Amino acid sequence: MSVQSAIKRKSAPDIRARKNGEPIVMLTSYHAHTAALVDRHCDVILVGDSLGNVMHGFETTVPVTLDMMILQGRAVMRGSKHALVVVDMPFGSYEASKEQAFHSAVRILKETHCGAVKLEGGVRMAETVAFLSERGVPVMGHIGLTPQSINTLGSFRAQGRDQGSWDPILNDARAISDAGAFSVVVEAVAEPLARKITETIAIPTIGIGASAACDGQVLVLEDMLGLSPRTPKFVRRYGELGPAIEAAIKGYADDVRSRAFPGPEHVYEMKKS
Ligand code: KIV
Repeated sequence: MSVQSAIKRKSAPDIRARKNGEPIVMLTSYHAHTAALVDRHCDVILVGDSLGNVMHGFETTVPVTLDMMILQGRAVMRGSKHALVVVDMPFGSYEASKEQAFHSAVRILKETHCGAVKLEGGVRMAETVAFLSERGVPVMGHIGLTPQSINTLGSFRAQGRDQGSWDPILNDARAISDAGAFSVVVEAVAEPLARKITETIAIPTIGIGASAACDGQVLVLEDMLGLSPRTPKFVRRYGELGPAIEAAIKGYADDVRSRAFPGPEHVYEMKKS
């Protein structure tokens, strides 16, 4: 007899069905405990390869490995119950061939039990997106600014500022949608182009630095919490946790140094936060 989980997680088709509907709320998480908090309010949790910058202090996402993504994907799945968990395919794990992409995606799905993967690229990745989607791997695309290509781009710059440069990005959006992706992240794209993409393609667009014209939004959790050392200009901060955490650490260090630390008279109990 099979045992069905009482809690139904959101699926890739659920998110696909939100085109032109209620805006999709997405945030990143890399840990079980932040995933539990994000899960209460978001439709999608992205285990982004931004973990390379945020958790590991790398300058770019290029050094991130498949094993790193799988480890944190498993933590996020343990911490969450409701949201669709999407795990990023890291640089070098999918570009060589559609077969390489399939093997990497299958490892991610089997080892984390997440509901979908995300990969960067438009027209050049369309064949791979179709290959994966046709074989049971839900794919979220990522177009506009694609941080894994930093070494060929040279810098992180907003895309599509003048109308003359729209065509390649529009073509990327169409190619990923037609290939069968269930949604697409649109990063650092000027509002008129983000609006045009959203009106043109059949799947939901999820913007980051791409205006409210998209079908949903995503931010890096640590950026919007004020925990990242550097954040892109477009990020609206909803907290300033960096200074709050430092004040708490300083309070602890001061207590230890002045021997004001609680002694054995305090019973050691776990408090639920
Ligand atoms: O890696 C990541 O966090 C991302 C988002 C910025 C969309 O890809």
